[in-house]
Parts: sequence; structure tokens; C-alpha cells
Amino acid sequence: MAAYSAVYRAVLRRQVDRLRLGLRGQCRAKSSKTDDTDPLFPKTPKEEQIPTPNNVPTLPFWQRLGPLTRAAEAYARGQRKRPLTTQLCSSLVIYFCSDLSAQSMADRDYDPVRTVRSLTIGAISSIPSYKWFLWLSHNFNYSSHLLSLGTKVLVNQLCFTPIFNSYFFGMQALLAGETLSATWERITVTVPVSFVNSCKLWPAVTAFSFTFVPIEYRSIFAGVVAVGWQTYLSYLNRQAEDGVATVVETETTVSLPGLSRYRFLAMAAPYLRARHSLSIAFRPQVTARVRARPRFDSFRRPASTSSSSSTTESSPLSRVRTFLFGTSIAASLYVLYYYATDTRASFHRWLVPPFLRLLLPDAEDAHHVGTTALKNLYALNLHPRERASFSTSHAATNPLSVTVFGTELQNPIGISAGLDKDADIPDALFALGAGVVEVGGCTPLPQEGNLRPRVFRVPSIDGMINRYGLNSRGADAMAARLRDRLRKLALNLGLTERDVLDGQAGEIPSGSLLPGRLLLVQIAKNKKTDEKDVDAVIRDYVYCVNRLAPYADVLVVNVSSPNTPGLRDLQATEPLTRLLGAVVDEARRADRKRKPQVMVKVSPDEDDDSQMEGVVEAVWMSGVDGVIVGNTTKKRTGLVPQGVRLTAKEQKALQEDGGFSGPAQFEQTLKLVGRYRKLLDGYSMQSSGEPDAAQKVIFATGGITTGDQALKVLNAGASVAMVYTGLVYGGSGTITRIKSEMRDKLAIKAI
Ligand SMILES: Cc1cc2nc3c(=O)[nH]c(=O)nc-3n(C[C@H](O)[C@H](O)[C@H](O)COP(=O)(O)O)c2cc1C
Repeated sequence: MAAYSAVYRAVLRRQVDRLRLGLRGQCRAKSSKTDDTDPLFPKTPKEEQIPTPNNVPTLPFWQRLGPLTRAAEAYARGQRKRPLTTQLCSSLVIYFCSDLSAQSMADRDYDPVRTVRSLTIGAISSIPSYKWFLWLSHNFNYSSHLLSLGTKVLVNQLCFTPIFNSYFFGMQALLAGETLSATWERITVTVPVSFVNSCKLWPAVTAFSFTFVPIEYRSIFAGVVAVGWQTYLSYLNRQAEDGVATVVETETTVSLPGLSRYRFLAMAAPYLRARHSLSIAFRPQVTARVRARPRFDSFRRPASTSSSSSTTESSPLSRVRTFLFGTSIAASLYVLYYYATDTRASFHRWLVPPFLRLLLPDAEDAHHVGTTALKNLYALNLHPRERASFSTSHAATNPLSVTVFGTELQNPIGISAGLDKDADIPDALFALGAGVVEVGGCTPLPQEGNLRPRVFRVPSIDGMINRYGLNSRGADAMAARLRDRLRKLALNLGLTERDVLDGQAGEIPSGSLLPGRLLLVQIAKNKKTDEKDVDAVIRDYVYCVNRLAPYADVLVVNVSSPNTPGLRDLQATEPLTRLLGAVVDEARRADRKRKPQVMVKVSPDEDDDSQMEGVVEAVWMSGVDGVIVGNTTKKRTGLVPQGVRLTAKEQKALQEDGGFSGPAQFEQTLKLVGRYRKLLDGYSMQSSGEPDAAQKVIFATGGITTGDQALKVLNAGASVAMVYTGLVYGGSGTITRIKSEMRDKLAIKAI
């Protein structure tokens, strides 16, 4: 009774939470109306583009089934709290039920040993099966639902089914005391047949499960279908058994050389049972006798024609040959896939970037081709990635782990803004091994940027000039994409969007959606917004914050792009303090539990003491959490090392308007990081009198291409070293390489 009322209370609490959610939505709708009067943030028609749910959804009928619903919810809670234990218990129940049903159909005395065998098989497979389905849920999630589903079903059918069936039949044989060769024989005979038959049911079950069944119920759903399936097979098996027995009696009257009738029967029995029952499973209208006979013919034929005894030998032999051939092709494909998708593969560095340069003379074309390829490869799960074995995530064993804004980052290497301007590929970039990914710069309204050509290469010094001019599809479009990504994760975890935003997804930050990683979203003003009208400029940034704050771990205020006229003037103390103050205020209003941090990205060219002190003052006065030191430079002196000769094309590229980036900038970045560290820490001591008062965080960007350089900027006071141009010339393995160089360096130091 007590348990019943506890469950009832829990259900009531859930309903109340739902109501609250709905009310909160309504409040939000109201409060957004009040915001219309805010001079900084007037209402625009665009605001309706990301609707917030404001009604209490009616419960579907399966959530109103009284005790059944409560039992299901209790099960789901168990799944969420102790997934492995719940999984194990469910498997035991499922296997127990299917064994009972199978035995009751068999018309023999109940055999407890068979039940124990069945339970053992179920217990061993339960956790790996659960992990597999979890993995399948979290992967192959493309923008097309149909494609996702099709891929999941296909992968499940091609990978899981043969492995599981081999395990199932092999274990059955082993536990029944059969020899290894008999077990192998059992597998080779039963698995192909069972695989073909499973294609008739399980793709539909998998598709249904991934479409309609919440993640926490998927295994129990599959289990219930499995019990039904097993019962059905047993029923057919039983119907067929009489027929088989008759056939066996008839057929074994022929003699096989060197084979006693008893041994022959013993050998034939598993073939008969497995093949017969499985093959007729979907053809109940065909009589057992008719179905059983041709199967048995393969044993009879060689005996009846003495000269064809080779057929009996060649048949298993050719099967083994086919199996080996198939396996070696599958293994080669897998090795190729494993190599090509590993960021450590040298072709990512030595083949892909030069090939792209050769094929696409326009650097912007290469940029688009690269990002589109990454996007599509990611959708097909064929993208380059840092393998888990390499990217150790545990702080105790990971020398690169660093804590930033309360998050224990897996590593301190980031990908800088501009590579993924519209947040199309944040996950593909995280997969390259970055601890931090910065998307953007994003402007409030869509804008084209400058006219093409606007990106130029200087390969002799691994440098680039760009004057993109903040081309952006706008804040609304970026917010929609980031929200979609968050919703998919919530769905996969069996949570709501709100749960993820409120940090109920464990250690998963609501921006990066990956533990130990941070997503930075960079915001900027539109080109047409008059930079002298500081209020208008502030409105631009605040609009972006309002749209994007729910999906960012850190918001980055860009006041340092050299390609938007007047943008760098915003680095003067007074406008910068006002701008940053407004952004911080809006970020604190973000509709989520943990508010995003705010950083400002400053130029490497404004490097006078007075200019830097002004920035530091604005940072402290506004409450901003940190500074990204560096961007592209307008300066063109000291970029070409002695002895390097540029081609005429490269010399022309260097004269183009825009910002330069590349390794030549590194020394300036290193100096600036050290100076900003000193100034920021000095200001904190002045203002608070305490040496450790909430140190401002520094990220460094500009010319970082090696592990040694990354370590240098970190030692100079940065928490994260960010890379852009290094990736363009070094390919998708750059982050992995830099981290590996850092590890080597740290290991040598330790010795
Ligand atoms: C093609 C290109 C586009 C860029 N776009 C942006 C941008 O939109 N916003 C920004 O703050 N920085 C942008 N940057 C600057 C980079 O984020 C980075 O700070 C700069 O290139 C220095 O780092 P690097 O030497 O590793 O490239 C861009 C750089 C390049 C080369």
C-alpha cells in the first residue's frame, strides 16, 4: 500500500511539474511582451520564429492506463537510476519467460537445466546488448529522420544480428555439452538461416522501437517481442516435429559409409531442428513434412551416389571458403574505415590539404568544400575523429585536463571562430578532439559579407589573408540549428529540452552537449548598424545574446574583426564597458539554470599599454568573465622569415586588404597573453586587495600550430590555446597532433 501511494505521489508530482512547465511557458510569453518596452530590445517580427511551448499537452492514452502506466513509469525511473541493474533483471525475466514458453510447447517434461542455460545466456548478453542499443540511439542521427532510421536498422541488422545469433546458438550448444567442432557446426548452420528469417521481423521491430518507443523502454519492448517470437517459433517447431521425426525415420534407412545410424541421427538432429523450425517460421501454410524433406536431401544425396562423396566434403569447405572470403573483405573494409576516420592518419595532413589547394585555387571554395565534406561525413558517421582510447577523459590519467569556468575540460585546445561561421558542424569539430569549439561570428540579421574573392593563401609561410566581413546567416537561423541539436540529444537521453537546459543531463553542458567540452558562440554587430550609435550597436549584440544564450556555454563578444568598419573602435574603454555590461546583463537573464559565461575577443593590433589597460578596465567594470587574446592582424611587417621567398601570387595576396593569420603571428600572441595576464591580475589585486579574487580567464589565438607553442601560451597565463589557420594547412588531424606533442613534451619534463 505504502509503495502504491509513493508511486501515486510520484505520478502526481510529475503532473504538477508538467503544469508548472506550461505555466512557466505562459509567463515567459507574458514577460516577452513586457520586453517590448525595453529600449535595448524592441520587439521584431523575427521574435516569433523560435516558439516556446506555452500550453499543457494532453497526455496520450497510454499514459492514462492507471496501474499499467505507473508500473511503466516505475520501470523507466529504475532504468534512468540504475540502467545496468534494471537491464540485467529485465533480461533474466525475458529469458525466463521465453524458456517457459518454449518448454511448454515442446510437449516434454519441464527441464530446469534448460532454464538455467537460458538464464545464463540472457545474463551474459544483457549489458552488451543494452550498450549496443544505447550506442545505436546516440549515433546515426541525421537531419533526415528516415535516413537515421534506415541506417540504424541496417547497422543493427548487419552487425548486431549475426553476432548475437552466433553467440546465442553457440552458447546453447556449448552449455548443452557439445564439442567445439559441433558448436561451430551449429553456428554455421543456424546463423545464416536465422539471420535471413530475422530480416522478416526485426527491421520492423527496430524501426518501430526507434521511432515510437522512448529510450528507457526500448530493451523491454524488444524483449517482449522476443518472447512472442520465441513462442511462435516453438509453436511452429512443435507442429513440425512429428513430420521431422517421420522424415528422419525414412531418410536414415539409407546408409552413409562409416557413419552409424545413431551418430547420423545425432548429427542430423540439430540441423533438422534449427533449420526446419526457422525456415518454416514464416511459412506455416506449408506442411512440415514438405519443408523438412529437401533439407534432409543434402545428407541423403552423397550416400545414394557413391561417386559424389566429394560433394559432402566440398559443401562445408566451400561454405568455409565463402565465409573466409566474406570475412576478409569485411575486415579490410573495416581497417580502411578505421584508418581513414582516425585523426592520426597521416593522409589527413599530407594529402588532403595540398590536394584541396591544388584542386580549388580559391581559398573560400576550399573552405566550403571542407566544411560541407565534414558535415556530410559526420552525417554518415564516416567523419575523422579522435578515438576514445587516445582522448583520455579522466583527469587523474589525463595530463591535459584543465578546469575552465567550473568545467573540467578534456584538453585545452580549441578551434577558433570563423571556421564554422553558422554552427553547421560543431559536433564534427568536437570529434576532431578539441576541448573548445567557437562557432560564429554571428550577426543579428543575415548578411553577405564582403565581395569575393575575400580569402587568400600564402602557403610558403602557412599564412592566410581574409576579409570575409562577418558573413552570417543570422542569429535566428543559428539558434534554430543549435536548438535542434539540443532537442535531438534530449530525445536520445529520454529527457526534455528543458531538462537539458537546466543541467539535468548530468555533466553535459547545455552548449557543447558533450562532457568535458565547451561551445563558444561568437556574436557581432551587423555591418549596416552605425558603429557611432552605441545604443544601436548594443541592441545588435543583445539581440544575439537573447537568441543564442540558451545554447552557448560561453558567449564571445567580437570587437576585434578588422573587416567590419569601426568595429575595433568599440575597444575604447567607455563604449566597451557599456557594451559588455549590456551583454552580461542579458546573458544573466538567459532562460536556463546555469547562465552562459561571457568573454570578449580583442585585437592583437591595439597593443599600446593605454589601449590594453582600457580593455582590462572595461572587462573588470562590466563583469565579463574572460578575454580571448588575438585575432587576425592588419600589420604586414615581419611576417616572412629570412630565407623564405614568396611567389608573385603570394606577394600579391599579402598586399590584399584584410586580416593576416598564420604562425608568423605567434610571438605577438605570446607577448600579449603575458601582458594581459599581468594587467588583468594586477587590476583584480588593486580593486579587491585579494591576490586570488576571481581571476579572469584568458584564451589565446594567433599563430598556434604546435604543441610547444600551445604549452608556451598556457604557461604565459592562458587556459586554452585556439587554432584556425593551423587546421587549414595541417588538416583535420591538427588538434590530435598538437595534443600528442604536448603530452610528449610534458612526459619528457616529468622524467
Ligand atoms: C578565414 C578566416 C575567417 C575568420 N573569421 C573569424 C570570425 O568570424 N570571427 C573572429 O573572431 N575571428 C575570425 N577569424 C580569426 C580566427 O578566429 C583566429 O583568431 C585568427 O585566425 C588567428 O588564429 P590562427 O593563427 O590560428 O588562424 C577568422 C580567420 C580566418 C583565417
